[in-house]
Amino acid sequence: MNISNMKDIKERIRNEEIREKITNDFKASLLIKDGMTIAVSGFTPSGYPKAVPMALANRVKKNGDELRLNLYSGASLGPEIDKAWTEVGIISKRLPYQTTDELRHKINAGEVEYLDMHLSHMPQYINYDMLPEIDIAIVEAVAITEDGFVIPTMGIGNTPTFIEKAKQVIIEINLAKPLGYEGMADIYTTKNPPNRKPIPLNHSSERIGTHYISCEKEKIKAIVLTHTQDKTRDLTGVSPVSNRISENIISFLRGEVKANRLPSDLLPLQSGVGSVANAVFYGLCHSEFENLTCYTEVVQDSMLDLLRCGKAKIASATAVSPSPEGLYKFEKEIEFFKDKIILRPQEISNNPEIIRRLGVIAINTAMEIDIYGNVNSTHLMGTKIMNGIGGSGDFARNAAISIFATESIAKKGAISSIVPMVSHVDHTEHDVMVIATEQGYADLRGLSPKERALKIINQCVHPDYRPLLMDYFHRAFSQGGKHTPHILSEALSWHIKYMETGSMK
Ligand code: COA
Repeated sequence: MNISNMKDIKERIRNEEIREKITNDFKASLLIKDGMTIAVSGFTPSGYPKAVPMALANRVKKNGDELRLNLYSGASLGPEIDKAWTEVGIISKRLPYQTTDELRHKINAGEVEYLDMHLSHMPQYINYDMLPEIDIAIVEAVAITEDGFVIPTMGIGNTPTFIEKAKQVIIEINLAKPLGYEGMADIYTTKNPPNRKPIPLNHSSERIGTHYISCEKEKIKAIVLTHTQDKTRDLTGVSPVSNRISENIISFLRGEVKANRLPSDLLPLQSGVGSVANAVFYGLCHSEFENLTCYTEVVQDSMLDLLRCGKAKIASATAVSPSPEGLYKFEKEIEFFKDKIILRPQEISNNPEIIRRLGVIAINTAMEIDIYGNVNSTHLMGTKIMNGIGGSGDFARNAAISIFATESIAKKGAISSIVPMVSHVDHTEHDVMVIATEQGYADLRGLSPKERALKIINQCVHPDYRPLLMDYFHRAFSQGGKHTPHILSEALSWHIKYMETGSMK
C-alpha cells in the first residue's frame, strides 16, 4: 500500500482498530456458509456490494462448493449478485424484489422461491422477527466514521435494519464512489408498535435523522476495499408513445390546478421506474410547472434534469439510480445535488403515514388494466412473474392522487393492455384513481364500476380493441350482475386466446 493510498484509506476508514479488519474479497466470502441468510445494502442497482458477492460466486464456480442461501435486499440488485448467484445456483429464497432475466427464469421454472413484497413491509417483517434471522449483512459504504458508523453510497434501502439485525457485518468501501455522498443520507428508523411514534416529517425537504448508519464495531468482521462502479440500467429514450402518455398525464395535472384541486407547484411527485416514468419527468422539465418537489423511491435521469433546470427544488428518495451515462454526470456534479437530494431508508421513503400526510401524486406503470380499473403490474398472463410490486402499492394505496400509466397495446398490438378482467391483481379498483395511455386519460374518481368501464374503454383503449371491449361490456351487462358486469366464463378468454393463437384480436 503506497502513502497516497494510505491517506485515502485513512480518510475513508477513520478508526484505526477497524482499519485492521481490511482483508480481501475471497477471505471475506469464506464467512458465508451453507444455509445462511444474507442481506445486502442498496436499492435498485445502486449502492449494492460487488466484490464479496462476486468472490463467492467464483468460489462456488471453481470449487463446486455446495451452498444454498436466502437473499434479502432493498429492491433489485446488480449482476454481481442476482445474475452471478443465480448462475451458480446458490439462491434458495429471494425477497422482496428483483428485475434480473436469469433470476426471473429460475423463479418461473420453480427453482427459486420468491416473495414479492410491498417494499415498506420488508423492514417491518424483519423487525417483527417474521423472517429467518440475518446471519451476515454485506454493505457498501463510502466511509466508516471514527465510531464505526457507516456512510452509505447511493442506495439506502433496508441497510439500517439489516445492519441492526445481522449477527455479522461485512463492509465494502468503494473507492470509486466520491466522498461527496457523505451528507446525502438521512437515516431515521421506527420502533415496533406499541412504541412507534409519529414520524416527524412534514415536508419532502426536511431532514429528521443522521447522515450515517449506526453499527456496533464488534459486528464488523471484515472490510474489503473495492473500486467498481454500480451497474445501473440504460434507459430507452423517450419514444413518441411514452411522450404522448406524458402529455396526457401533464394535461390531467393542469386540469387539477385549474379546478383548484392542486396548487400551481403541485404536490410532491412519486414516479415508478422505466421509460414512461422518465418521459413524464422530461415532460415536466418543459412544462409551465415550477418549484416542484419529489417524494419518491428512486431518482432517475429525468428527475436529475428537473433539479438541474431549477423546475424542482428537492428530491427525497431511497436511491439515486440513473443510467450509466447519467451516473457519470451526476457524480461529477455531486456538490450541486448535495442539498437537493435526501436519501432515506425505504421504511421512510415508502412510508404510508408520510405519503398520506404529504399528499403525494403517485405515477406508476401497469402491465395490464381491466375495464373496472384493477391493475396488474407483476404477472405475465396471470402466472409468470415479471419483476414484482416494488413500491408501487406503498404509494398507490396512500397517495392523494394515484395514476397508472401504460401503453394501450403490448407485443406490437398482439395484446391489449386493457382487458375485461386482469389475470392477476396488484392494485385494486379502490386504489386506482387515474389511468393514462397514449390514447388519453380516464379520471375514475367518484365513478361507479359501470361509469369507469365506459370511460376507460372510450378514452384509454387502442382503437383496434375498443369495439371488442365495448361489445364485452354490453353483453356482460345484459347477461350478468348489474353492478360489476362480467361473463365469468369469458372474462379471461382474451388471455387464453393470446396463449393459444399469439394474439388477442
Ligand atoms: N401482457 C403481457 N406482457 C406484457 C404486457 C401485457 N399486458 N404489457 C407488457 N408486457 C411485456 C412487454 O412486452 C415486455 O416484454 P419483453 O421484456 O419480453 O419485451 C415486458 O412485459 C415489460 O414491458 P415494458 O413495456 O418494457 O415495461 P416497462 O419497462 O415500462 O415496465 C412494468 C413495466 C409494469 C413491468 C414495471 O414498471 C414494473 O415492474 N412495475 C412494478 C414495480 C413498480 O411499479 N416499481 C416502482 C414503484 S416506485
